[in-house]
Amino acid sequence: MTGPATSSLAADPPAAQQPDWPDRAALHAVAADLAARPALVSAAECDLLRSRLAEVACGAAVTLQGGDCAETFDGTTPERIESTYRTIRQMAAVVSGGAALPVVQLGRMAGQYAKPRSRPDETRDGVTLPAYRGDLVNGLEFTMSSRVPAPDRLRRGYERAAGTLEILRGLAAERGGAFFTAHEALVLEYERALTRDTPSGVYDLSAHLVWIGERTRQLDGAHLDFVAGVRNPVAVKLGPSSTPDDALALIDLLDPDREPGRLTFIARMGAGAVREVLPDLVAKVTASGARVVWVCDPMHGNTVTAPSGHKTRWLIDVLDEIKGFFEVHRSLGTHPGGVHLELSGEHVTECVGGTYEVLPAQVPDRYESACDPRLNRGQALDLAFELAELYAGRPTGGL
Ligand code: PEP
Ligand code: CO
Repeated sequence: MTGPATSSLAADPPAAQQPDWPDRAALHAVAADLAARPALVSAAECDLLRSRLAEVACGAAVTLQGGDCAETFDGTTPERIESTYRTIRQMAAVVSGGAALPVVQLGRMAGQYAKPRSRPDETRDGVTLPAYRGDLVNGLEFTMSSRVPAPDRLRRGYERAAGTLEILRGLAAERGGAFFTAHEALVLEYERALTRDTPSGVYDLSAHLVWIGERTRQLDGAHLDFVAGVRNPVAVKLGPSSTPDDALALIDLLDPDREPGRLTFIARMGAGAVREVLPDLVAKVTASGARVVWVCDPMHGNTVTAPSGHKTRWLIDVLDEIKGFFEVHRSLGTHPGGVHLELSGEHVTECVGGTYEVLPAQVPDRYESACDPRLNRGQALDLAFELAELYAGRPTGGL
C-alpha cells in the first residue's frame, strides 16, 4: 500500500514541511501497520461530500468549516468533540436561515493533528529545540524528548481520529443531517498509509476532504502530487501572494475534468488584502470555466500579537475579511461559498472582541490552543449571525 520505499528517489517531488524522523525503520513499520487497518471514512461518504460541495459550487448551498487549529490527543475529549460539533451545527442553522440555502457542515476534526511551521526550531531562554509540529509528530512540551518526532504518534493519531469519528457519527445519527471531516494533508506518511484503492478509485480515507496549506502548495511539490492522485474532494489555501496563474495551474492539476465539488479554494488573504487580491483570482478562474467552491478563511491572514505576547485575532478584522470576500463575489456575480474558521465550543479567550467581549488584556485568561487562536463559542455564533445577514443581503450589525 505504501509502495516500494526505494522507488527512484530522484523522480519523487520534494515534500516541504516534513518532520525529520530520526527512526525511518520505525516510521515505515508504523505506516505498514496503518495501511493494514480499516479505513477511517468510506469512499461513498467522500463522494457524497463531493456532490454536496458541487451544490455549493453552483450557488445552491453554502459550506461552514470549523474546528481547532491543532487538535491534540489529550484535548479531544468526548465533551469537547460534542461542543465543537454543536457550535458548528448551531452556526449552520443560523446561516442557513439567512441564506435560505442548505449548509454543508465540515469539522477540522478527527485528523487535524499536524502543523506546518514558519521556523523548524524554537528558542526559549537560550535553549533551541525542534518546533512543535502537532501531536501527530511530536509533543508540545518544551523538552528534547518531547520534541523529537516519534513515529508511534501516527498510530495514536489514527486511533484518536477513529474515536472522534465514532462520537461524531453518533451525534449525527442522533440529531440527523450529515457532518463531514477534514484536515490539512501535511504528513505524507500518514496520508499515504490511509490511502486505499477502492472499486470507485483511489481515495485518502483518513478524512472526507483534505486540504493543502499555504506553505505546501508548490506546483511541483509532493503534496499537490499526492492530492492530484486521490478522488476525494480537495481544497487548497490561497494566501495574499497567490496569482491567477497559480490558481489556473492548480485547477489544471487537481481538477482537469472541471468537476464541480472536486476543488475548493480557501482564500486567506487578510482583511487588508482581500479586496485587492481576490477579484482578479475569482474573475480569471470563473472565465476559465472551472466551477470551484470559494471559501473564506478569515483567520490566517489576521493574526497579531496580544499585549501578553500570545498570538491573537480581532473579531472585527475577521468580520472585515468576510465582508471583503462577500463584496468581491457580489461585484463579480459569483457565489460566496462559505467560511473556514478556527473555533472552539468552549469559552476560551484566544481571540479579541465579540458580544460577550474578550478584551486584549484577557487573552491569557483561558488560552488553550496548541497553535493558533480560536474563536470561542459566543464569537463563533456572533459571526454566524453576521454571515446570515450577509447572505440575506441585509446590513450587518457590526461587532
Ligand atoms: C491552518 O489552517 O491551520 C493553516 C496553517 O493555514 P494556512 O496553510 O492557510 O497557513
Ligand atoms: Co491555524
